[in-house]
Amino acid sequence: MGGRSSSWTTPAEEMVARILCVVGTRPEAIKLAPVVSALRAEPWASVRVLATAQHRHMLDQVLGLFGIEPDVDLDIMRPNQALTTLTARLLLDLDDVLLGEQPDAVLAQGDTTTVMTVALACFYHRIPFGHVEAGLRTGDLSNPFPEEMNRVVAGRMARWHFAPTATARQNLLREGFPDDAIHVTGNTVIDALLAVANKRPDVGVPLDSSRRLVLVTAHRRENFGEPLRAICRAVRDLADRNPDVQVLYPVHPNPNVQSVAYEVLGGHERIVLCPPLEYLPFVGAMQRAYLILSDSGGVQEEAPALGKPVLVLRRTTERPEAVAEGVARLVGPDYERILAEAQRLLDDPVAYRAMARGVSPYGDGKAAGRIAAVLRAALAA
Ligand code: UD1
Ligand code: UDP
Repeated sequence: MGGRSSSWTTPAEEMVARILCVVGTRPEAIKLAPVVSALRAEPWASVRVLATAQHRHMLDQVLGLFGIEPDVDLDIMRPNQALTTLTARLLLDLDDVLLGEQPDAVLAQGDTTTVMTVALACFYHRIPFGHVEAGLRTGDLSNPFPEEMNRVVAGRMARWHFAPTATARQNLLREGFPDDAIHVTGNTVIDALLAVANKRPDVGVPLDSSRRLVLVTAHRRENFGEPLRAICRAVRDLADRNPDVQVLYPVHPNPNVQSVAYEVLGGHERIVLCPPLEYLPFVGAMQRAYLILSDSGGVQEEAPALGKPVLVLRRTTERPEAVAEGVARLVGPDYERILAEAQRLLDDPVAYRAMARGVSPYGDGKAAGRIAAVLRAALAA
């Protein structure tokens, strides 16, 4: 197990609730940072942060930006780690942490292996677990893989379900969870986004201001192999057909992504491949973009809030709200559809304006305060 700083700031006998906030990957840190900050402002709460470090560099970047120093760090990442190994190692280490920390409640966000194992470990240790971003479902355990299973398992263990939208709440009600355990809060990613977007951050990558920017991200496991290759071929052909377009693709460090992205897209004069951008420059890149192509969960939530059309490189999405609003479109990892839909948005200003409306179906930037209020009512006594 990795490093650990001493202990809770307040002795256990005082009437303060000890809340352990757990983060493993980049998006979890972005989405839990506002919650950590909101809880730290609550006099009844003592907060500690556990980093499983399922991601290393990408997690550290975000924690640094939001001024969060983990109290416990499991340093679990290994290159190209298998899901079973990751799960087993996480569970073993979490056992020790929960025994040592003895928190009154544990919070985690989303659907990664970190979240699933934390929820399960809390169940075994009979510690109340709060699930941030609860109730997202595609109904297909293979899409996204393994995240749909992860969030179903995490949700099953949760005492508090912090659902971002009314749709997510309905999913949980349909699965039989009691209404009073579900709290619609909005998605905390919008809190994080709004905290930085007005700084108009610099992208930090030299871009040609005379060209329209197409921003690309892709990293989903169900897209590894041929689907990712099809996505990359579509991106390359889009750049070839449109001399006024420049592509920026910050490539996820997963070796299964790196190999395909650099092989298919490397060396093109108008395609910039770069390591993952830190959160501020990435927000700057979304703001600067004309169009976004992504299979990311978080980007599907952020792009509409910034008024940027997003083509979703997935067969199905657990975030149907933006599609229903007409500001996101599901194109799958499908070469023909990606090219056709992207070309339409480049060529047709009416179609473009219809998607670039700046609606935010996922939140108003106040989700973390709502989560803190629910926990205050439950734990402050
Ligand atoms: C994980 C989550 C996924 C989430 C994504 C966010 C699981 C199973 N998957 O996917 O839900 O959407 O994070 O980005 O929980 N790596 C590095 N440096 C880093 C991070 C990753 O080198 O900072 C490489 C390592 O080789 C690592 C590999 O990426 O083994 C895969 O990391 P892992 O956390 O298992 O899965 P992701 O594909 O990143
Ligand atoms: N992001 C980032 N740098 C990048 C790409 C994405 O900071 O180079 C941010 C993005 O704004 C969003 C989050 O990372 O908030 C999404 O993470 P990712 O796509 O890795 O995971 P997912 O949301 O799909 O789980």
